[in-house]
Amino acid sequence: MAGRIPQSFINDLLDRVDIVGVIDDRVTLKKAGKDYQARCPFHDEKTPSFTVSPDKQFYYCFGCGESGTALTFLMEYDHMDFVPAVETLAALVGVEVPREESAKPQRDNTDLYGLMVKAERYFRKALKESEEAIDYLKSRGLTGIAARDFGIGFAPESWDGVQKALAPAKTPMLLEAGLISKNDKGRTYDRFRGRIMFPIRDTRGRVIAFGGRLLGDGDGPKYLNSPETPIFHKSYELYGLYEARKAVRRLTSIIVVEGYMDVVALAQAGLPNVVATLGTASGESHYQKLYRYTDEVICAFDGDQAGRRAAWRALENALATLTEGRQLKFLFLPDGEDPDSLVRAKGSKDFRERVQNATPAIEYLFAELASGLDLNTIDARAKLASLAMPMIERVPDGTLKHLMLARVQELTGLATRPAARSQGRPRNQRHRRRIDGLPEHLLASLLKRPTLLQALSETEVQALANLPDSMLLSEVVRYVAANPEAEPAQLLGRWSGDEQHDELIRLFERQSVLDEDAIRAEFMDGAARLLAARDQQNRRRLLNEMRENPSADKLAEFWTLKRGSTGDKNG
Ligand code: UTP
Ligand code: MN
Repeated sequence: MAGRIPQSFINDLLDRVDIVGVIDDRVTLKKAGKDYQARCPFHDEKTPSFTVSPDKQFYYCFGCGESGTALTFLMEYDHMDFVPAVETLAALVGVEVPREESAKPQRDNTDLYGLMVKAERYFRKALKESEEAIDYLKSRGLTGIAARDFGIGFAPESWDGVQKALAPAKTPMLLEAGLISKNDKGRTYDRFRGRIMFPIRDTRGRVIAFGGRLLGDGDGPKYLNSPETPIFHKSYELYGLYEARKAVRRLTSIIVVEGYMDVVALAQAGLPNVVATLGTASGESHYQKLYRYTDEVICAFDGDQAGRRAAWRALENALATLTEGRQLKFLFLPDGEDPDSLVRAKGSKDFRERVQNATPAIEYLFAELASGLDLNTIDARAKLASLAMPMIERVPDGTLKHLMLARVQELTGLATRPAARSQGRPRNQRHRRRIDGLPEHLLASLLKRPTLLQALSETEVQALANLPDSMLLSEVVRYVAANPEAEPAQLLGRWSGDEQHDELIRLFERQSVLDEDAIRAEFMDGAARLLAARDQQNRRRLLNEMRENPSADKLAEFWTLKRGSTGDKNG
């Protein structure tokens, strides 16, 4: 199946295609000096203002501003999608469109899914035949029904059990599926041996990976997971989500725990709305996924110091996904217990009550921020506000954000405004002019080369993702940050049908005369300048306001900006 089209190929293609020929086939062009002209095909006009430059391989309309390359022309004029347009141009110059091997989204993974189905069947059958494995599950209090609902199985102590069971599947496929491993000498052997097997499913119920637990304490890690494969990306997946959705038609809330056994034990105890991350911390993509299925997420953490750190990280990762109506709560467990042990010791009623009484994430946020601060002092209040603001800025505009701001106000006893007010008009017009066009320029670069975002610091990305008045740039930055692998075509596709799509296409086709290194340097510099200008605008506004009406919260806000987290060098 088709992989992605390398950007370098598209650049070469645009060099080789004659834009004049491409356009002249569709709109009759007249020579005018070294350029060509026609009545613009994109707007109604009497006199020609549509110009095609063979030197720049570029068209431009002085009337309506449409511009681009041969590629955009086909997309716009023939209403073609990106890939067919590339293919059309390639056919014109007589070259094949190459595809990169690594393209994950487009490839056909039918074979891999098929293998996983067979592997699951093999593991389930092996469980029925292993007294030892059944005894282990019984000793952990697991019922046959729960084992069946989750498709739990067993990988026997064998070096080639899977290979035999899945014959005639070929070794490279089994390796790709992560079901077997290869040693230094090139010998292949079953990856999972002597382990209870938990099938991990995607939201459509297809088995995409396995988690395997040792029976008791054996050799090797307690849990072994499938490696990343073309069908398994662990930072996006949640164990139990498919099963939860199957059990509960409309999930009013989802509980996030750490372990497979926790999910199964809670489901067995009558709490089916439980999922687990796969040995990783919960990231933003997990929350994006969860909030597609529910409005309330409750994360369970250990009650110790490590649990509190994990909760803070979870909060940082979740804030940007907390749009209107979504709730996040934290449940801290008693020392030394996990949900599995707790529900077995105290029962499901007790666990439900704990869930009911879970701490709203913003309560937790403010409790953590205020801990160790004496809020009777103006310094401490300013500090609290300055710590809270960057977190609050990540929250999308809405009730939650207002509540958080109100909370800062309450705690500091003073009126507060967000550091980056969405409706605040910058006072300093001179400054505004200096960065005019910069957001669009950054956007144009980013659309063509999404990986540029990786050249920026985490803080800069955050700041760009939350610009008050360059909404489209922020949206694209958020999308690229959440989908670092996204191709330009995928990126543009995300907005297809939206009113901004045209603008994005226009920006996407903007030409740069710089080479790759220079484009990167320009992007980094532009981002820094934009953020610096934004900070400076805010500082000036604040200084003016403080002159009129001094207050601790403004001071705090000022500090937040002063801390220069966005790399301000000229302020
Ligand atoms: P825990 O060590 O907390 O185990 O790992 P648990 O879930 O309580 O398991 P039991 O009760 O001892 O069977 C929590 C999760 O972390 C990942 C697994 O996803 C596990 O479910 N993990 C843990 C690993 O990936 N590898 C390990 O070696 C241990
Ligand atoms: Mn456990």
